[in-house]
Amino acid sequence: MYKETNKNFSYETELLINGAYTRYPVTNPETMPIYLTTAFNVEDLDDLEKRYAEKGFCYNRNRNPNRAALAELMTKLENGEDSIISSSGMAAIYNAIISIVKTGDHVIADTTLYGESLEIFTDILTKYNVETTFVDFTDLNQIKAAIKPNTKLFYTETIGNPMITVADIDEISKIAHENNGYLIVDNTFMTSAGFRPLEHGADLVVNSLTKFANGHSDAVCGAVTGPKELIKKAYDLQVLIGSTADAFTCWLVQRGMRTLSLRITRQMENAKKLAEALEKSPYVLKVHYPSLKSHKQHDVAKRLFTHGFGGMLTIDLIDDREKMNAFMRKLNLAHYAMTLGGYRTTLSYPVLSSHYNVPEEERLKIGITNGTLRISVGIENGDDLVNDFLQALEVYGK
Ligand SMILES: Cc1ncc(COP(=O)(O)O)c(C=O)c1O
Repeated sequence: MYKETNKNFSYETELLINGAYTRYPVTNPETMPIYLTTAFNVEDLDDLEKRYAEKGFCYNRNRNPNRAALAELMTKLENGEDSIISSSGMAAIYNAIISIVKTGDHVIADTTLYGESLEIFTDILTKYNVETTFVDFTDLNQIKAAIKPNTKLFYTETIGNPMITVADIDEISKIAHENNGYLIVDNTFMTSAGFRPLEHGADLVVNSLTKFANGHSDAVCGAVTGPKELIKKAYDLQVLIGSTADAFTCWLVQRGMRTLSLRITRQMENAKKLAEALEKSPYVLKVHYPSLKSHKQHDVAKRLFTHGFGGMLTIDLIDDREKMNAFMRKLNLAHYAMTLGGYRTTLSYPVLSSHYNVPEEERLKIGITNGTLRISVGIENGDDLVNDFLQALEVYGK
């Protein structure tokens, strides 16, 4: 912000102060510009105080227009009161958890979580004397049996990674609240386009925006959404930790999210088509997808998911490393990538990725075998995708 002046300065000074279009208060761009600035100029001390009071922009780690814009979008879509935008899904998850638990609290978490979310409980919270009991969240009796007088937090995912389990959020939120606890739900696999945990009683919803939300596999980002008083706590912690997302990332994610509804509708249609085709294949031992009648929580999923059953499915193939390698090499469309939710179909092998650090015995209890393959379905033509999988599976017949 430079004052209008006819005064001429020396060359070195003119170099610094000219060409600053930021001095025009309203430029009305058609799309959100990227605010790559660490700080925002302040007029005087009254202006500074006003900005503090009205949550204006002063310093980038605290607030930035791109982060605020993405937070506004997430708040609307998840039907919350406010959001914080974090440097990754993991940063959002950590932030949400530590804004609720304190030393001496007890947590009940789902056994089938994203591997690194699980490690927050086992490797970080234990250092602060926060104990976690892991139970199968598809069995409400197990959750009830694990409750202790100091249970503060219940933690699960809308769709469990990687076994595509479906937790009954309606019932779990009731259990949490009857016991004075909070429920956090990771909605990454479904996104607000398919399910809104806050409308089913969750206290906070976390999202890795890196995945389906952004959908273009080019940005790492996360969000926490919920009621104002909980988000205020999460925000204050985030400012201290410094885990805010940068402006360009927020801009990329917001741009990506404009087409979320179109993409995820196609991804859900394709996933259902692929799940049905693979279930008929003689070479696939089991398909885990909630639209299938064979899925253990099919009825819960039908009640909770009114827009489709998600873009993720998992298959169990026979335990034969060479055949699995040949199958993967023969696929033309789906390719291995350690992410999910992008516009192209990608594969992940939980034994060597998300559950690499989980002991074999624990893995098998969850249902992850050496033949388990997770598929994130893209927006390709559905028939092309099915045909490609079927031709590649032929390697199992040889
Ligand atoms: C369900 C789920 N939650 C959270 C994360 C972490 O997200 P990020 O990689 O953006 O930190 C992942 C990553 O794959 C995930 O699958």
